[in-house]
Amino acid sequence: MDEQHIGRTLADWFPERRRDLPWRRNPTPYRVWISEIMLQQTQIERVIPFFEAWMERLPTIRHAADADRETLLKLWEGLGYYNRVINIHRTARLLRDEHGGNMPADHSGLLALPGIGPYTAGAIMSLAYNEPHPAVDANAERTLSRVFDIEEPIKASATQKHLRHKAAELIPPGRARELNQALMEHGALVCLPRDPRCRECPVPGACLARKRGVAEMRPNKGPSRSITYLEAVVGVLVHEGRIFVQKRPEGGLMPGLWEFPGGKLRKDEAPEEGLEREMREELNIGIRLGQPLAEVRHSYTSFRVLLRAYFCSPATDPEAIRLTAASESRWVEPARLQDFSFPAANRRLVAKLSALTPDEIADLLRA
Ligand code: ADE
Repeated sequence: MDEQHIGRTLADWFPERRRDLPWRRNPTPYRVWISEIMLQQTQIERVIPFFEAWMERLPTIRHAADADRETLLKLWEGLGYYNRVINIHRTARLLRDEHGGNMPADHSGLLALPGIGPYTAGAIMSLAYNEPHPAVDANAERTLSRVFDIEEPIKASATQKHLRHKAAELIPPGRARELNQALMEHGALVCLPRDPRCRECPVPGACLARKRGVAEMRPNKGPSRSITYLEAVVGVLVHEGRIFVQKRPEGGLMPGLWEFPGGKLRKDEAPEEGLEREMREELNIGIRLGQPLAEVRHSYTSFRVLLRAYFCSPATDPEAIRLTAASESRWVEPARLQDFSFPAANRRLVAKLSALTPDEIADLLRA
C-alpha cells in the first residue's frame, strides 16, 4: 500500500469509529484552539466538562480577551499546567487588538501566537480550516511509528519532523480534517500502546512494525526522564476564623494562582521546623503550630510531591505580615476559599477545609 492508499483507507474508516466530542460538533478555529490546548497532557474525558464550561462562559475569542485573568484561571482550575491558560489569555487579547478578533488562517500566523506550536497550528489549520497540514498528537504518533516502523526516539526533533512529513503525505486531497482525526482515533482506539487491536485495524497489511513483529516496541520512547521526589509543607494560618491565602507572583511558576504559604523541606528538616522557617521567610512572622490537616501527594511531569499541611496561627500581631513570595494576600472565610483558583495539591486542602465548621477549626488550632 502506498501513502495515498493508506491515507484514503484511514480517512474512509474514520466515520466508523469517530467519537462524538464537543469540539468536533462545530470545529471553529477558536473551539479547535481551546480544545487542543486543553488536550495537551490531559485525558479526553477530563477535558470535556472543562471545554463545555469554557465555551458556555466564553463563547468567542472576544469574550476570552475581555474576561479578566481570574475568570480564565477559575475555568482552568483542575486542568493544571497553568501557563497554558495564561498564553490563551495573551493570545486572545492579541487577536482582539491586532487581528479583529479572529484567528489567523495561515500556519505561520498561528505559529507566531503565544502558546501555539507546530502541533496546535497544524491542528487548527487541518481540523478547523481543512487545510493540508499534519497534526500528530501522541496517539497519531503511535500509529505512524508503527505503520512506518520508525525506530528513532520519538521525541527527537528529527523524528518529529519525519513524522510530520509522513503524516502530510497521507492526507488525501481535500481531506485533511478527516485524515488527521482518523490518525488520532486510530491511535486512541485501535493501535493501543499494549495489545494493539490489529484485527480492528483498517490498514493491517500496511503496518511495517507488525510485519517485523516489533509493534509493541514502537514508539521508541527514548530514555525515561528522571523523577525528583520532594517533600513540602504548608501552613493553614488562621486568625479570627479566617484563613490566610496569598497569590503567586507573575513571572514564576503558576503565576496568579492562590496558595497557602509554605515551601520545600530542606534535607533532614522536620515538617514542623520547615513550616516555622517558611512562615518566617514568606510572611515574616512567627507561628503557633496546630494540628496536621492532611498529607497530599501530587504528580507533576517530572516531580512527585508529598505535601503536609498544618493548622497554625500567628504568634504575633498579623499586621506584622510582610509578603516576600507573593504579590498579594487575603484573609478568607473557609466557605469562600472555593472562589479562588488554587493549584491541584492546594485545592485538595481547600476541599477538606471547606467541610470544617468554625468550631472544628478552632479545635484544630490547638497543638
Ligand atoms: N487529542 C488531541 N487532539 C485531539 C482531538 N482533536 N481529538 C481527539 N483526540 C485528540
